[in-house]
Amino acid sequence: MATDHSKFQRIVILDYGSQYTQLIARRIREQQVFSEIVRFDTTAAKLRENMPKGIILSGGPNSVFEEGAPGIDPEIFNLGVPVLGVCYGMQLMSQTLGGKVEPGAAREYGKTEMATEPDNILFAGLPRSFVVWMSHGDRVAAIPEGFKVSATSANCPYAAIRDESRRFYAIQFHPEVVHTQHGSQIIGNFLFKICGCAADWKLSTWIEDTVEKLRAQIGDEEVVLGLSGGVDSSVVAVLLHKAIGRRLHCIFVDNGLLRANEDVQVERMFKTKLGLDLTVAHAAQRFYAALKGVSEPEAKRKIIGREFINVFAEEARKFSHCRFLGQGTIYPDVIESSHALKGPSQTIKSHHNVGGLPPDLKFELVEPLRDLFKDEVRAVGRVLRMDSELLDRQPFPGPGLGVRILGEVTEEKVKLLQQADLRVQEEIRKLPQYKTIWQTFAVLLPVRTVGVMGDQRTYEYTCAIRSVDSIDAMTADWTRIPYDTLAAMSNRIINEVRGINRVVYDISSKPPATIEWE
Ligand code: XMP
Repeated sequence: MATDHSKFQRIVILDYGSQYTQLIARRIREQQVFSEIVRFDTTAAKLRENMPKGIILSGGPNSVFEEGAPGIDPEIFNLGVPVLGVCYGMQLMSQTLGGKVEPGAAREYGKTEMATEPDNILFAGLPRSFVVWMSHGDRVAAIPEGFKVSATSANCPYAAIRDESRRFYAIQFHPEVVHTQHGSQIIGNFLFKICGCAADWKLSTWIEDTVEKLRAQIGDEEVVLGLSGGVDSSVVAVLLHKAIGRRLHCIFVDNGLLRANEDVQVERMFKTKLGLDLTVAHAAQRFYAALKGVSEPEAKRKIIGREFINVFAEEARKFSHCRFLGQGTIYPDVIESSHALKGPSQTIKSHHNVGGLPPDLKFELVEPLRDLFKDEVRAVGRVLRMDSELLDRQPFPGPGLGVRILGEVTEEKVKLLQQADLRVQEEIRKLPQYKTIWQTFAVLLPVRTVGVMGDQRTYEYTCAIRSVDSIDAMTADWTRIPYDTLAAMSNRIINEVRGINRVVYDISSKPPATIEWE
């Protein structure tokens, strides 16, 4: 579905590759203003087609001195809309408008006290000095004509600058990260006091709007959708069902590598409770057969990915009269695949879930969540009155338990891990901080150790518990789970799951470890 949110005012963020760019967009949307991230080389002419209320130039890893450093169409400064440059965005703005940037002698990284000048609309309502988060090498040495200094710090004579007549603002620090005090208010001042935005981005309006658009796009045609049990595809299913009812056909593939009872829960929720047309493809044995004797992680991923496509395609052929294929693509996926700024990074894990469908299956895509961040997808689900148990689910990898059973996957090991994992899930959900944890799960190690139960010697498997806190899975730290919870998990697994006599807790951060063990 094409992005068309002309109904909402928008702020455009030119992406210079900072790891925080998405955070800027989220901080803006949290204040009910729609924000969109576009490539740094988007032209002024393109922006004029749907004029934003304001433009933000993000931070980035480059130096403006580097050859091939990402630039900006200078015409953007003639659009007549406010511009806020952040970090690299500030340096680029200063350089483009006639100021001077110099390579910093030392990189400034971390919290810094910043003192602001009075009568400063960007810092309206804030104390005169507060702590900000800096992360830069270069710095502005001379500001462009027409600009004034707005704030200074010990290391940075131009921590913030402004040209009020043209409504250009620039800051060396990052207002979007939590370490900057009053960051949201600074962003809010830019949105409401400088750009004059109305807080019109409401998910209830978005839902009405999207349902209308889906009806217009789909017309009398039908849609097939792969339901995974995860948050995104579930919300897509409910949205599409709202738009076109039983002309939506959902397919759920039980690959035998799901969490315990997942197939039953999905069927109960979507078919019985919500009344969706749902086909469950019970294909566990087929996956186990294909995985027999295979222990190399990437080989397992490829097999699981391939079998998934085969099973899904077989089922989808029964719905080949459908013109459309629904997909739970969300905004971070769109940004990641369309922005070329990130350097060529090495493939650590192939993340093979769904490749392309065979050529005889020609569907047009319907991707109603393309503009939403994950927390917004959850919020849409809540407006649609979906179960919080489903919406608060942690991410679950496409290859499922296949990459949590180290080495060869067998049906017996799947059953064992499902039982251990079930207890881990039940215990972790009791914690008030459950919603802030990225993922918690059990891993079955191919290691047997000696134990004693009653008077009997045991020689059974070891299970590892993994739990991480993360914002985007790129980096992660192990969760400080309370000892009592760890004890409950361990006791329950060892006492209730036959075949496991030892439980360990994984205390590695990513990097250098990864979240999954394979
Ligand atoms: P790693 O292990 O790479 O995981 O630190 C990062 C995030 O990605 C998930 N993950 C996968 N998701 N297919 C997926 O859909 C995969 O093959 C896959 N491998 C890892 C993992 O659960 C974590 O959230």
